[in-house]
This record gives sequence, C-alpha cells and structure tokens, in this order.
Amino acid sequence: MTSEQASGATESAGREAIGAVDVTDGFVPVPIRTVTRETVDAVSLTLDLASVAEGFDYRAGQFITVSVPIGAQWYRRCYSMSSAPSVDKGLRITVKRSIGGPVSNWINDNARAGDVLNVRAPEGRFVLDPLSDAPLVALAGGSGITPILSLIRTALHTTDRRLKLLYANRDRDSIIFRDELDDLAELFGDRLEVGHHLDVDSGLLTRDQIVSVLDGCAGADFYICGPRKFMDVAEEAVIDADPRSVHLERFETAEIPPPEEVSSVATPTTEEVTIRLGRQKVTVAYRRGSTLLQTARSAGLRAPSSCETGSCGTCMARLRIGSARMVNNDVLDDDEVAEGWVLTCQSLPTSPTVHVSYE
Ligand SMILES: Cc1cc2nc3c(=O)[nH]c(=O)nc-3n(C[C@H](O)[C@H](O)[C@H](O)COP(=O)(O)OP(=O)(O)OC[C@H]3O[C@@H](n4cnc5c(N)ncnc54)[C@H](O)[C@@H]3O)c2cc1C
Ligand code: FES
Repeated sequence: MTSEQASGATESAGREAIGAVDVTDGFVPVPIRTVTRETVDAVSLTLDLASVAEGFDYRAGQFITVSVPIGAQWYRRCYSMSSAPSVDKGLRITVKRSIGGPVSNWINDNARAGDVLNVRAPEGRFVLDPLSDAPLVALAGGSGITPILSLIRTALHTTDRRLKLLYANRDRDSIIFRDELDDLAELFGDRLEVGHHLDVDSGLLTRDQIVSVLDGCAGADFYICGPRKFMDVAEEAVIDADPRSVHLERFETAEIPPPEEVSSVATPTTEEVTIRLGRQKVTVAYRRGSTLLQTARSAGLRAPSSCETGSCGTCMARLRIGSARMVNNDVLDDDEVAEGWVLTCQSLPTSPTVHVSYE
C-alpha cells in the first residue's frame, strides 16, 4: 500500500507543529515537506532543506539524528535516509513502528506536512566503497531496507556494478517500497536481482536459506541491515560466502546493562579523565559508573552523540592514554579497537587515568 497521506504545508495549517525547537547540539528545525504512508506500520517523511544553509549533504547509507519532544521529555533517534543523494533532490527518511517504542510510534501517528522536525546533519559509515567495483549483495529485514534502498539506487545509477537483494518481511503487506523495488528490478533487470522472503510462507529466515541464495556471490561487498535476530543469522551466513567485505548497520542492540551495573563488577578505581574536543581540553575527577561520554558532558563539553546504544559511531573518540571497556560495540572493528578507538557512549574507564580525544 502506498498512498500520500498528506502533502503541502497548507494541510497542517491550524495545527500546532509537532516539535518544539531543539537548537542544542547542532539540531536545526526543518519543515516536513511530505508524509507518505508506505505500509500500515511505516511512514516516509521528505524534509524541506531549503532553509538549511549547509551540512546536509549525505552519502547513501547514512542517517540523520532526530530530536522530538514527547510529553515532558526529549528523545533522540537515528533514521537512515531511504532517498539516494545522487538521484533524489530532497532527503527522505522512513520510520517503522517498534512495538512500545515512543519515537517511531509518535512519528507514525503525528508527523504532518508543514510540521517542523529537529534534525542533525547526516553521518554514518554504512556507505559504498568508492574504490570497489565488486558485485554488491544486500540482505535487508523490515525497516533495514531504508539504507539498503539508498545504497542500491545509488549503485545502480552511478556505477555498472551487479546487485543482488534478499529482503525479508513478515508478509506481503509489510514489504516497504515493494512497488519501488519492482520498478527497479524491471528497469535494471540485467544488473539487479531482487528476492523476497516472507515469514508467513516459509518461517523466519534461516542461515541455510540465506546460504542457498548466496551461491556465486564470492568476492562481493555485503551490506546487511535489519532486526537483531535477522542480523545475527545473516552475519553468520555470509562468513562462508567468501565476501570481499561485510558492512553491518544495526538498528537495535542487545539488552545493554546500565553502566553502573557493569562497573560494579569489574573496573579498578579511575581517578581522573582528560578529554580533548576540538580546541578544548579538560581534566575532571571521574565519577564511578559514568561513561566517557557522560564524563565529557559533566565537564561541560558538547561531545557528539546520537543513538547512545553503541550502534551509530557518532561518539567515536580515541584513547591516547589508559584503557576503557565498551559495554556494547556494534560499530568498530577489531583493528579500530586495537588503534584505540572507542565508542564513548559505551566506554567505562578501566585504568587510573584516561586521556581521550574526539578527532
Ligand atoms: C544508525 C541507525 C539507523 C536507523 N535507521 C532507522 C530507519 O531508517 N528506520 C527505522 O524505522 N528505524 C531506524 N533505526 C532505529 C531507530 O533509531 C529507533 O531505534 C526506532 O525507531 C525505535 O525507536 P522508539 O523510540 O520507537 O523505540 P525504542 O525505545 O528505541 O525501542 C523500543 C524497542 O524496539 C526495539 N527496536 C528498535 N528499533 C527497531 C527496529 N528497527 N525493528 C525492530 N525493533 C526495534 C528496541 O530494541 C526496543 O526493544 C535506526 C537506528 C540506528 C542506530
Ligand atoms: S552515540 Fe551512537 S555509538 Fe555512541
């Protein structure tokens, strides 16, 4: 089902804008140009960037951070662009309801054309390697199609690469961008192969089912995005496919224990933390149980962050002295960790002194 729910600023005339304005931490208020219902539980918003001076250029696969007030609280969430920068003029995000989730449901229920959304500039590392001309294999589950669609359309329009997509959903009606994918498969039939997996027909996608569609995909660049269980199965399945590279974007993380709980089990006493951010450098006493990000904030620094679950990489910084333990890390690979990179939102210091630098 694809229908224009509302478009044009006049339709929301008389309604109060959904968002009060959040101008902290680089957020800017941007009008919503159109709201399109994609499925019963997913909605796309295109944003009108005319008023935004600069900084909103993006690469396929990246995300923006949205800040919304619900009740008395502000919430921040990441949303990947489902638009393709080289093809589409505007910027589009697509939000699928999470059961019990405040922000995804709020956006699905409240977003109207003409309302203002507080957003922060695009970022993210789930992007195409400009030096690669290897075939591209994409595995998407549910809302994970958003960055994947952007990557696929970009690769189709700007390269000669061959592409294969396996897209898993509950049933036919929950396939986001079904028509758009059909159109692409028709237009680029010689280069794009699209396969759908529906749970109602053949149960939850298994490792063996994925392996069976990866025949002949050795040497490809793999991009995987979807719900947690899907990611786990897909990641396991591609190991045997002899990929050139594997790129993962996790929208949901495993249950993360609160830092206080983790720190009470392990770490020796950390006394002070030195943090460098741009031209600022501060040294503060360490408060037990605080992450490096919380420590930076308590020292008055406006340290970058977005998901705060270890999934997006916005808060990356480098340990120059000392050590820290990450409670969750869905972003950094082993080499980066060995080079001292940490996700500060997930890092608890484990040495008496720690020096960390946002670079
Ligand atoms: C880099 C990045 C990009 C993202 N891009 C998108 C996107 O393009 N579209 C989109 O809809 N979401 C995307 N997300 C997820 C999004 O940021 C929110 O987590 C999601 O909308 C749920 O927010 P919430 O406040 O409703 O619920 P939360 O309070 O955040 O979560 C409620 C519950 O739902 C689970 N959950 C969170 N996300 C999902 C999901 N996608 N599917 C199933 N369960 C989930 C959580 O683990 C939790 O148990 C992205 C996340 C990251 C880190
Ligand atoms: S803020 Fe997203 S990984 Fe730390």
